[in-house]
Amino acid sequence: MLSLSLTGLKLKNPLMLAAGIMGTTGGSLKRMAEGGAGAVVTKSIGVGPKSGHSNPSMVEVDCGYLNAMGLPNPSYKNFQGEIDMAKEGRVPVIASIFGAGADEFSEIAGSLRADAFELNVSCPHACGYGAQVGSDPNLVEEITKAVKSATNTPVWVKLTPNVTDIKSIGLAAQRGGADAVVAINTVRAMAIDIESGYPILGNKFGGLSGRAIKPVAIKCVYDLYETLDIPVIGVGGISDWKDAVEFIMAGAKAVQIGSAVGNNINIFNDISSCMQAFLKEKQWTMKDIYGMAHKK
Ligand code: SIN
Repeated sequence: MLSLSLTGLKLKNPLMLAAGIMGTTGGSLKRMAEGGAGAVVTKSIGVGPKSGHSNPSMVEVDCGYLNAMGLPNPSYKNFQGEIDMAKEGRVPVIASIFGAGADEFSEIAGSLRADAFELNVSCPHACGYGAQVGSDPNLVEEITKAVKSATNTPVWVKLTPNVTDIKSIGLAAQRGGADAVVAINTVRAMAIDIESGYPILGNKFGGLSGRAIKPVAIKCVYDLYETLDIPVIGVGGISDWKDAVEFIMAGAKAVQIGSAVGNNINIFNDISSCMQAFLKEKQWTMKDIYGMAHKK
């Protein structure tokens, strides 16, 4: 009832683990797959090992989480074993990758073996990476093109909401040959400790995830669905089945769940059973609700 084909990949349901949470080891990715995720996305992996920003790198705020991890990772040269172990979960494993430019992205995509690549051109707080390259449509097009030439696997491009017009970046990814876009990465944000007067995060500012950003993400997905010919994958603040349905109605072909996994490790199974009950009660199919908000 919930199964779908997404950029050539077969998914048992449209609910994926988002990049950045439970995605550093093959064991945790496999556990998410066994917990009902339709696919899993790794933590973002780069060319060389990187220790990331200094602590605190993640704090809970009223309406979600603020993080500035700084893309810590062991390098793609030390990561294939984790992807291979994640594959034991028997769902597609998507490698989230980042680089400073087209050469680094294509070096990784030409070497790692995964079911798809998700290009992180959207981390809001990593100097020289992420949104610093992903806010320029020309660079996004060039990077996407380079990765497409380096690999035969599907290429998804994860977009930043921290731009004036996300549609122009989505169009650039599409021109570069992207098979899908993923919207959105975190929203640039900060918090200050009033006892000391210092910013709380080691990096001073970071990216906001969780419930607060859901309406921002819904609007981005809605606009991208209207603008692009390729599928949009929705992410940002999904906490329960109603949020997932809302994203699909906005035009997301599938969704990713990040922050909420921290509170409920069974969230994928919980959401898929509630979604099935909802569709049954309404006598709707996934096809009926996909982009429904545009049909009114
Ligand atoms: C990080 O590792 O800094 C987070 C990645 C991201 O926001 O894309």
